[in-house]
Amino acid sequence: MNILVLGSGGREHTLAWKIKQSPKCGKIFVAPGNGGTGKIAVNLDLKLKDFDTVATAIKKHKIDLLVVGPEEPLVNGIVDFLSKDKELKNLKIVGPRREGAMLEGSKQFAKDFMNRHKIPTAKAKVVTAENINEGDRFLERLAPPFVLKADGLAGGKGVIITEELPNAKKTLRALLVEKKFGKASEKVLIEEFLNGIEVSFFVLTDGKDFRILPEAKDYKRIHEDDKGPNTGGMGAVSPVIFADRSFKEKVTRKVIKPTIKGLKDENIDYCGFIFFGLINVGGEPYVIEYNARMGDPETQVVLPRVKTDFLELLIATADRNLIDMDIEYERYSAATVVLVSRGYPEFYEKGHEISFGDTKMVLPFHAGTTLHDEKLVTSGGRVLALTGLGKNLAESLGKCYSCVEEVNWEGKRFRADIGFDLKNLGQ
Ligand code: AMP
Ligand code: GLY
Repeated sequence: MNILVLGSGGREHTLAWKIKQSPKCGKIFVAPGNGGTGKIAVNLDLKLKDFDTVATAIKKHKIDLLVVGPEEPLVNGIVDFLSKDKELKNLKIVGPRREGAMLEGSKQFAKDFMNRHKIPTAKAKVVTAENINEGDRFLERLAPPFVLKADGLAGGKGVIITEELPNAKKTLRALLVEKKFGKASEKVLIEEFLNGIEVSFFVLTDGKDFRILPEAKDYKRIHEDDKGPNTGGMGAVSPVIFADRSFKEKVTRKVIKPTIKGLKDENIDYCGFIFFGLINVGGEPYVIEYNARMGDPETQVVLPRVKTDFLELLIATADRNLIDMDIEYERYSAATVVLVSRGYPEFYEKGHEISFGDTKMVLPFHAGTTLHDEKLVTSGGRVLALTGLGKNLAESLGKCYSCVEEVNWEGKRFRADIGFDLKNLGQ
């Protein structure tokens, strides 16, 4: 079976790495890929905005299964586009159509969906430039901190949290009037702040059944002690100590099942991953966001912990046969530490040559790397994620940190405290 993975990050390197372990895997392609995927698969230089060239490549390389990594092509309707092509009627696809991807593509859509299906989430009000004053009144009734969310996709930067009421009102105007994120911030959700600890759950669903993948916790802030601006993610761990049996049961019953049932009841045909960004508030799960894809760098700790043949799980999902599949987890713990370029998440440097020492202790997943004249050079903010596996969190993290100095380039940065809060909880 020939497989194409769309995307170019650490998530896609991990997906390709995992799929390749299956005896059912034939040729594997990644588009556009990175310096790491180029070593284990064939990189195809495609623009993911150009669905026609993606369709042409699928036909040319006789692709049987397509896995869409990032949200943008999903929200832009790549699955709807490919499903209409008569020559691709046998193509298996893991990824929702545009309608389902709106769970991530519109925060208002997601909030209304959760409210319709009584899925626990923060109280919110949607505001536009027309009723900005109602937004001010709503803010005045909330206790700080204030959470403002651009409705549409804003590259992970669309959530702004501020302690000061005047600043919240100013930010509301920056989003709605000055259109800070363009069309994505024509509507804004003002949300009640939920005080708790975050954890992410992931499922594969064929629209009828679902299988829960290992949970993970990521570390979004650039600096240690969760300080500084948000990034795509500076590290992740799995499992997460407080996501115990009782919490998982609540997540399944109060969040996952009503979400899958809600999609079915609303005739939204959803086939793919759902990423539930949750906050544990006093033992109760609340949804802060849905994503229509896997997380990055969460994938780098979730997939190594899946014991079941992952390609078989993907095929069963695309074939709407998940009912026939069980999922088993590995018993070990996984941790990943992301190495980033100087300046990230603001303006960062590129083009530095990367040197590798001994990284046998970890799985090095590439993100912003590219081959240039046979040399591996940096090409993005997040450059590599080093994943360590061990019998517990301390051992898996120990492996990551014993290798961080084995990979070098001018201006490499990383967080030295991934997992710190869980260690304090005794994990
Ligand atoms: P997102 O871009 O949706 O992942 O949100 C970014 C971050 O904002 C989340 O990881 C949370 O840390 C935080 N956040 C979002 N919504 C809330 C909320 N209602 N209460 C507290 N924190 C939130
Ligand atoms: N690491 C967060 C995300 O993938 O959205």
